[in-house]
Amino acid sequence: MSKLRVHSFSISLDGFGAGPHQDLANPLGVGGMGLHEWVFGTRTFQQMHGGEVGTTGVDDDFAARGFANIGAWILGRYMFGPIRGPWPDDTWKGWWGDNPPYHTPVFVLTNHPRASITMEGGTVFHFVTEGIHAALKRATEAANGKDIRLGGGVATIRQYLSAALIDEMHLAIAPVLLGSGEHLFSGIDAAKLGYQCSGHMATASATHIVLTRRG
Ligand SMILES: NC(=O)c1ccc[n+]([C@@H]2O[C@H](COP(=O)([O-])OP(=O)(O)OC[C@H]3O[C@@H](n4cnc5c(N)ncnc54)[C@H](OP(=O)(O)O)[C@@H]3O)[C@@H](O)[C@H]2O)c1
Repeated sequence: MSKLRVHSFSISLDGFGAGPHQDLANPLGVGGMGLHEWVFGTRTFQQMHGGEVGTTGVDDDFAARGFANIGAWILGRYMFGPIRGPWPDDTWKGWWGDNPPYHTPVFVLTNHPRASITMEGGTVFHFVTEGIHAALKRATEAANGKDIRLGGGVATIRQYLSAALIDEMHLAIAPVLLGSGEHLFSGIDAAKLGYQCSGHMATASATHIVLTRRG
């Protein structure tokens, strides 16, 4: 059975998954880029972005695990882009250029309908206006037996977490304080929902945590 998995979701020491005031210049909100410092140098990230050789080891292992056996992705609309409200036109196709790093169907949750977009490299963005259960159903069908990766952002993960629909969640706690922004766990009792820490490991760049849901 397909699992719903979160990987490489970075949060600050004070629990924020994005800084405030996201815009074109600040895709992760103001200060948010510091959350991802642990991943930028890894082999997995570098190879995905046509860069240098990259580092191997624990950080890279966690980054790589997030792409294994994934048949579809689910994203929130603000992870897809900074546009708020009705789509002004069809120009915006995500942050990632013509060949996004997904290479699968990607289901973007939004309240604003839009036609699907076929990108290079196998990524097709579909826009889902019927909510989290509909997105998961469509992603599960599209994944064809593989798992579904829940990419974020924060509001999207919070909805699936609150519904106890996430099977596994890898968080990377970055050694930065953001002070404000989008908080991951605020008001959510993950323990009561059945989640427990099933693994943790610290590197020089991040503390990796794996949460799993009791069966
Ligand atoms: N820390 C990390 O590892 C990480 C990973 C990924 C993303 N991020 C960051 O997280 C931030 C985005 O997170 P976010 O919490 O602001 O937003 P988000 O979860 O990406 O998107 C929220 C928006 O998606 C739409 N949406 C979500 N659920 C919906 C539903 N059930 N039905 C219909 N529409 C729904 C709504 O947009 P509309 O009403 O406008 O359609 C909603 O306002 C960005 O800064 C991104 O870079 C961080």
